[in-house]
Amino acid sequence: MGPRTESLLSILKLQPVVPVLIIEDARTAVPLARALVAGGLKAIEITMRTEAALEAVRLVAAEVEGAEVGAGTILNAAHFEAAVAAGSKFIVSPGTTQELLDAARGSSVPLLPGAATASEVMALREEGYSVLKFFPAEQAGGAAYLKALSSPLAGIQFCPTGGISLKNAKDYLSLPNVICIGGSWVAPKELIAAGDWAGITKLASEAFALTA
Ligand code: 3PG
Repeated sequence: MGPRTESLLSILKLQPVVPVLIIEDARTAVPLARALVAGGLKAIEITMRTEAALEAVRLVAAEVEGAEVGAGTILNAAHFEAAVAAGSKFIVSPGTTQELLDAARGSSVPLLPGAATASEVMALREEGYSVLKFFPAEQAGGAAYLKALSSPLAGIQFCPTGGISLKNAKDYLSLPNVICIGGSWVAPKELIAAGDWAGITKLASEAFALTA
């Protein structure tokens, strides 16, 4: 087991799909997270792409029972520390830097680091990581590409994200080296803006029911 691998796996194995959220208004965070949890999706990634993101993590961590909130789009150590201070239970990055690896080494909160090539995977493997985000999945080569990595890079498991939806989810979930997938399709911005929490619970339930 690599760095904090067990605690990361215990979160990622809760469900087949980790919702990737872009939250513009922190007031939507709690009802949105409750809607996702009601549909079965407990592990939730809030991306640090908006000003509201840290407050959203704080609110979900404090108020949404059953949610395991994580922070995504973490690009540096300052992001990492702020996200952990806000209550993130896991950290996701689109790629990997030495600074991020150093921040993760000093933290009890697990990092799901991004990789898109065999060399990047190998570098992370040398650091002890065996559970990685494959990003951007569709654009980098899709399920066929990831499948091709499974034999030479045996023992590495991925959570692919980027361009995944209900349509191609099973292509990934059926691969032996995929533990879960990530995607924003379960929380479309139109439904968030409309406060259509029932609609989001329906999308979450469909995603939760996905199997290989
Ligand atoms: C991301 O970090 O942007 C995720 O990969 C989500 O990608 P998607 O919006 O294509 O699902």
